[in-house]
Amino acid sequence: MYKLLLIQPNDRESAGMETRTALVTGGAGFMGSWLVDELLKRGHQVVSADNLLGGSERNVNRDCKFVKADMRIRDRVSEVVKGVDVIFHLAAYAAEGQSFFSPVAINEINIVPMNNLLVEAINNGVESFVFTSSMAVYGAQKPPFREDLPREPEDPYGAAKAYCETMLEIFARTYGLHYTILRPHNVYGPRQNTADPYRNVLGIWINRILRNKPPLIYGRGNQTRAFSYVEDVTPAIANAAFHEKANGQIINVGSDEVTSINDACQGLLDIMGSGLRPMYEAARPGEVNQAYCTVRKSMDVLDYKTTHTLKQGLSKMVKWARDLGPQEPSYTLPLEITRKAPRVWVDKLM
Ligand SMILES: NC(=O)c1ccc[n+]([C@@H]2O[C@H](COP(=O)([O-])OP(=O)(O)OC[C@H]3O[C@@H](n4cnc5c(N)ncnc54)[C@H](O)[C@@H]3O)[C@@H](O)[C@H]2O)c1
Repeated sequence: MYKLLLIQPNDRESAGMETRTALVTGGAGFMGSWLVDELLKRGHQVVSADNLLGGSERNVNRDCKFVKADMRIRDRVSEVVKGVDVIFHLAAYAAEGQSFFSPVAINEINIVPMNNLLVEAINNGVESFVFTSSMAVYGAQKPPFREDLPREPEDPYGAAKAYCETMLEIFARTYGLHYTILRPHNVYGPRQNTADPYRNVLGIWINRILRNKPPLIYGRGNQTRAFSYVEDVTPAIANAAFHEKANGQIINVGSDEVTSINDACQGLLDIMGSGLRPMYEAARPGEVNQAYCTVRKSMDVLDYKTTHTLKQGLSKMVKWARDLGPQEPSYTLPLEITRKAPRVWVDKLM
């Protein structure tokens, strides 16, 4: 049924010669732009579609076909899906903490594109669909989160991702689409949007330190995360569309180096040679305290490998951020609810 050349572990090298036309939505964003680079490096043709809400033209690889397009608009989706063999759907607004306070906008951005892309994928005979979901779908269950745990999101962002996962499963079952649901966790590295005050804690801290402001910690800082370096994560995302074993699978992607927020913050201050001390703010409503995943499946199915410790990855990110320079905070999506929202967001103190 599939035109796609599916790759078995022992014939990857020869099969890897076969190339495809891939659409990367969110291709001007952080992970999307690294994925575009990776696919081009492997000889694939790449169409990158992005509305530049959170991404930047400076991330766009000149060797891809870049289309400035909003995936909420059906006609634009129809246009970019034409002639495409494989879809990597990364476009999103990944502000988990903010999603309690801007649920209308965040749900629209995260849900509407998925439906548009699924319809166009089916109508255009797309071979393979890879979706970057999030470990937010696990909610507050006991870590490490295993892929077979039920979806129990605790916030609107996680709920939107859970909806998209379910829609992809329904469409794949009905129309026979090759698909993979990936759940990357706490990805960081060069090209992350450091101007956004609502998301990606390491980027927010780096930008504040560059502006000589203390890094903010919500709550006591004993939350745990496994930060994952982007150049480790993107090859695994690229493999998902082409490895037969990945078909129909849900796979966590990222590091198993579990770090507390306090330790990550101090480590960053040390790397940046800063004498600033963290500033503690009230805990954010609904923030999951302990969140990290099992990683075995990504190693077996997607050849995922952690090659950067947090210290190594952060050093690369800091170097990049220093070259870029301090960024003026950009409050991308307005708060729709201010009750219970962090005061630094309501009063725009970032
Ligand atoms: N960074 C992480 O830690 C992480 C973890 C788990 C999952 N994810 C998921 O991975 C994907 C990429 O995340 P990222 O960190 O690179 O975020 P990002 O914001 O850097 O990239 C997302 C891109 O999508 C674009 N976009 C948003 N809405 C769009 C629309 N309607 N039409 C077209 N383009 C649109 C943005 O402009 C941006 O360039 C997202 O789906 C995110 O939910 C990220």
